[in-house]
Order: sequence, then C-alpha cells, then structure tokens
Amino acid sequence: MKFDQAVEGDFVKDVDLIGKSTPRIDGPLKTTGYAPYAYERHEVASGQLVGYPVFSGVARGTITGMDFSEAKKAPGYVGHVSTLDMDQLPTSNWNTAPLFGGAKVTHYHQAIAIVVAKTFEQARAAAHLVKVNYSPENVVYDLSEALKNLPADATSEKQRVGDFDSAFAEAEVKLDETYSTPAHSHAMMEAHASIAKWDGEKLTLWTSNQMIQWNVVALATTLDMPVENIRVDSPFLGGGFGAKLFLRADGVLAALAAKKVGKPVKIMLPRPYVANNTTHRPATIQDIKIGARRDGTITAIYHKGKSGNLPGGSPEGCTAQTEKFYAGENRLVLHDLAEVFLPEGNAMRAPGETSGLMALEIAMDEMAEKLGMDPVEFRIKNDIQVDPAEPSKKFSQRNFVECLRTGADRFGWADRNKTPGSLRDGQWLIGHGMAGGYRGAPIMDSGARIRLQSNGRLVVETDMTDIGTGSYTIIAQTAAEVMGLPLDMVDVDLGDSNHPVSAGSGGQWGAASSTAGVYAACLKLQKTIAERLDEKVEDVRFEDGKVFFANTHMPLGRLAAGSELVVEDKMEVGEFRQNYIVSTFAGHFVEAAVHVATGEIRVRRMLAACDAGRILNPLSARSQVIGGMTMGVGAAIMEDLIPDTRFGFFANHDLAGYEVPVHMDIPEQDVIFIEGKDPISGPLQAKGVGELGLCGVSAAVANAVYNATGVRIRDYPITLDKYL
Ligand code: MOS
Repeated sequence: MKFDQAVEGDFVKDVDLIGKSTPRIDGPLKTTGYAPYAYERHEVASGQLVGYPVFSGVARGTITGMDFSEAKKAPGYVGHVSTLDMDQLPTSNWNTAPLFGGAKVTHYHQAIAIVVAKTFEQARAAAHLVKVNYSPENVVYDLSEALKNLPADATSEKQRVGDFDSAFAEAEVKLDETYSTPAHSHAMMEAHASIAKWDGEKLTLWTSNQMIQWNVVALATTLDMPVENIRVDSPFLGGGFGAKLFLRADGVLAALAAKKVGKPVKIMLPRPYVANNTTHRPATIQDIKIGARRDGTITAIYHKGKSGNLPGGSPEGCTAQTEKFYAGENRLVLHDLAEVFLPEGNAMRAPGETSGLMALEIAMDEMAEKLGMDPVEFRIKNDIQVDPAEPSKKFSQRNFVECLRTGADRFGWADRNKTPGSLRDGQWLIGHGMAGGYRGAPIMDSGARIRLQSNGRLVVETDMTDIGTGSYTIIAQTAAEVMGLPLDMVDVDLGDSNHPVSAGSGGQWGAASSTAGVYAACLKLQKTIAERLDEKVEDVRFEDGKVFFANTHMPLGRLAAGSELVVEDKMEVGEFRQNYIVSTFAGHFVEAAVHVATGEIRVRRMLAACDAGRILNPLSARSQVIGGMTMGVGAAIMEDLIPDTRFGFFANHDLAGYEVPVHMDIPEQDVIFIEGKDPISGPLQAKGVGELGLCGVSAAVANAVYNATGVRIRDYPITLDKYL
C-alpha cells in the first residue's frame, strides 16, 4: 500500500481500540521474568559457551604484539579470536569506527580479542591474562583544542536566509552567547549482548538491537557473507536510546568466536567498557545570536554548532531545530566539525535536537528577559506555520502555541514569581522555567505479515522491535481495530529477520510507521477475505470477530478453516510527504528548588504538553514522555560523560561514575497530549513521542534554576560548583 495522499477523517469507522490507554500486552512476560532478553536465551541453542572481550588500553595506535599463552592455560579456556588473526573488517554504512580486525586501534576500548570459556568467570579470568603491546599515536582528544585549527572545509552551511549580519547589526535587542553540552552515554539498563550460532554457512544471532534489517545488512558487510545466510532475532530489548541502532562489537565477536570454537557463544559487553567501546552523544559548543525588534519579533537568528568526531564521523546536528522552530527573516546556521579521537559519536535519543534545544531554549529565555517579555509570549509571537527558508512548504500540523497555552494554564505559569532569585521556601530558593520542544517526525516504509488462524486468532509478524516503548501493544491494537477483533485475539511476534522488514525503532518513527505497515497488511487481509466470499471489500464488515456480508455473517476463523490464511503487505511512504515539514512540538514547564547553602538542585514539579498527532496509546505514550522528561533532568543537572583528554577515553565509564536520575530525583510528572490527527503523517495520523519527550526539558530545568537563583549557567550539566 502506498501512502500517497493526506488522510482526513478516521482511518477506520468508529475508532475504538486505537487511542485508548491500554496496558502492555507483554507486561506479564516482563514482570514475571519470562520475556526473553538476548543474554538469557538459554533455550535457543544448547551447549552455549561464554565469550569475554579484550579491549584496547590505548585510544590510537598499533598493536605490536599479543600474547595468549597464559590465557590458554587458564581453567575452562576453550579458544580465542584475536584482532591480529584477520585484516580490519569492513565497516557498514552506519558505523564510523571499525568493530574488529587488524593491528590498528582507532579508539579506546576497541575490541581486540575475545576469549571463550565454559563459564563467564573463566572467560573473564582468561581474558585478563592476555598481554598486549602497543605503539600509541599522539592525537587530539579535546574538542576545544581541535576546534582551534580547523581547515576551511570543516564548516558546513546548514541554512542561509536573507542577510543575517546586517539584520543583527541593526536589531534593537540582541543576544550573543555561547553554550556547551557535554557528551552523554545512553546508559540503557541492558548492555549490548548477543548469542551466535552457526549451522554450516548460516548464522543466527540472538541479540538486542533496534533495527533488525540494518543489523542483518551490517553483519553481511562486516563478515562478508550473503544476507540470506543471516538471521537476527531480538524480540525484547532492555532499552536502547540509539545505542543499539547499529551492529556493535558484541554481535561481531560472538559470530567470530562461535565459528572458531564450533559451538554457540554468548557475550555481553561488560558495563565498564560500554561507554568507550560503543557510541555516545558527542559534546557540543554552540554559538547563538538572536536579534529582535522591541515588540519581540525575531529579525535575525544565528546558530553555529561545533562538535567533534572520529575521521569520517558526523557532526552532532544540534542546529537542526533552529532552522525551523522560530520566525526570523534573516538566518544563518552553520556547523564546525573537528577531528577528535575519542570513541565514536553517534545517535542518542533525539540526536541533534536534544543538545540543540538545551542551548537554543536558554537563549530564548535570555532574549525574553532582555525584551521584558513573558518567555511563553515571546515564543508565541515567533511561532511560524511554514518553512522560513521555503515558505511554500507548510508544517503538516503545528500546534505549538496550543502546547504553550495549555501547558502554561495547567502549570499555573501566570502566578509564578518573575524576579529571579527572590522566592524562598525555608532553605530553598524556588524558580519556575519553561522551554519549547521540537523534534522531527519521519516515517519509514514498514511491512507486516498477518496469519489468520482457524480458531479466529490473528498473529502479526514483523521485524519491528519493542525497545521498551510499547510496540507490541500498539501493533495489537491496530490489528484488532482494523479486523474487528478483541485485543486478546491478537498475538504479536516481533524482532525476527524472518519476518517482513519494518521501520524498526529509531528516530521516533517506530510507532507511526510500524502500525501503518500492520494497517496495510490488515487491509490486504480484508480484501483477501472479501474475494473469497465473492464480495467487494466495501460490502464486507469486520466486527466482534465475525465477518458480515450479504445479510449473513460467519466467524473470522472459518475463512482460515483447515489451515492459515496468510497475507503480507507494507506501507510505502509516498513522495507527497516531502512537501511538508512533519514535526512534533512540546511546551515544558518546570519548578525547581536550589538550596541556598549547598546549591543542590531538586526538581519539584514538571509538566509537558505535547503535540504529536494521534496518540495511539496514551498510557504507553505517557510512559515515553515521562521517561524523556527524566532523561532531560539528567542532562540538565547530572549527566556528564567526561573525556580524559590526555589518553582519549571517557573517565566515568560505568553507572557508578556516570550519574543519571533515580526515582527519588524525579517528582510527579504531568503530561498533556494536545489532540490532533496529522493527515500527512501516515494512515493512522500518528507521530512519535519517544524522542519529543526529551526535547527542551533540560533548558526548562536550566531556566527554572536561573529563575530560582538569578545565576545564568550556560554550561551543562548545571552542577553546584558552577555557581562558585
Ligand atoms: Mo534513536 S537515537 O534513533 O534510537
């Protein structure tokens, strides 16, 4: 099915299950411990051995020798694979740093060997006996340092409209500031894990991955084998946040080791190695200039993002939202990319907008203050409905103003204390802050297979993943809705590369795309059933588990009598969508308390008003948003992946040193969804919320802290030492 025109009205008659708060259908499996996570899949292959990696102790250089003689004598040792056994393996499109092979080390904690033993403890003990010699290279690990000597082609122009320089020079009110955000680690609960098994030339990888098809292709590229010989299965993930979009070392090492020892091998990246072995959200330095008329109209806006990555890597796209969020007839958006030889920077939840809004939304707060305007009104004044660079291009739906008004209302914004540093509650200074949220809402082609069984049950199969987001449930809701079945008559089977290729979980496109694919497959099932009944599909109705036609009806299962009725289809995104900007919006409101003596910050109250099209399942959507808000508090006042700029690694590379919020850090969170069905977004008129929930939150916290203290911190995280 091609999605090639706007969908007005509803996608089915009498929408009933979609849009209703529905507890996760996979909830009982998770709470009872029966949900199969990658490392614990003892049932999938017998005789599993355990691999433990060896990681590079230098960030850049060449391995001059490796000695496995002691490891080989260790109890339980079965075998090993060394990076010196092979040339550097090819990298797929999605990886910058090579995952394995060759003597060259490109980043700290790069995997350089795997040792296989009977038990985890034996493998770990043996791996620690491997001796490695290096010839290290001298390179730059410090972003500020690397930015000093940039070649001219290191700057890219992202947007140029009008004449920024003149407009800014003439502006009545101006802001010109620099903001910085540190590197972040995904810190998902489940570390990267894989079990690999070979049957002749065929490889099965049970793993934890957000994008099954990308993983299959990446494995095929890396291991130089045909895609049809690879099966990847990842039905449950303990979080990902972008860390598991791509094939990582665990998958490659498990596959290589399993081949070498002729037995299934399982491996989990030990937590202290995850931050440096895998990817992170790169640090940014951001220059922002805003010029406005006295009435608050922005006339000039400038945003220069600066970030670093390994050679061949991408910039952190922290300027993305600035191109489209606010008015401004004169605009200049630039990015500097420096070579920094820390581990690979790559996608982490709302890559770009997260760090971009951390800066831009403080700048907007500062600008409102200079103008003597309410920050909510300042944003409303500069709301736009078309692309500032291409006015013929409209937002498919943009209810940002409604997010701000509704949020402000519910939060009690009007009653806040407007004078910074002047409201006290005992030992605490109290402040209120707000920020806007923006995140693009792409959708992707997505397929599904439906099996109608003779007992009337439907089984939906797709390689879509559920990274904790609730995919199982919204897919069941969609199939049940379209086929007129109760929810509990639908089974959902996800994450298997033997199933049709889906959109996968990334870029907050998963919910809208995967349900659209299931919708397409259900329509095909309806059509197939109508044909079998010799009816037109318009004359057939699906309700209560029955099919109604020609003044009669029969149970759905009868159409599959004796066997299964199996159909497959996919939703393909038509080009018409490119004529629109499809995005999601939010208004974030925060109350913070800062201790007068210690500077400790406590977030007391949070509210998010979100505009993300049709909300498929308000219960799981709310969970996504409060998870994002929690992460936003982390980014505002805690999270800081600190590079050791002498040796090129992140120093606080485990969950003891990398601080994230816990329950006690987070107050009651309020989430409002602005009702709306986006006709351009997809057949279900839904958009993503999983990343939106994070976008803008940290700046709202920062602005609340400023309102509490009167001290403006432009360098995240906002920790108490920065007040001194
Ligand atoms: Mo997301 S950073 O695309 O998982």
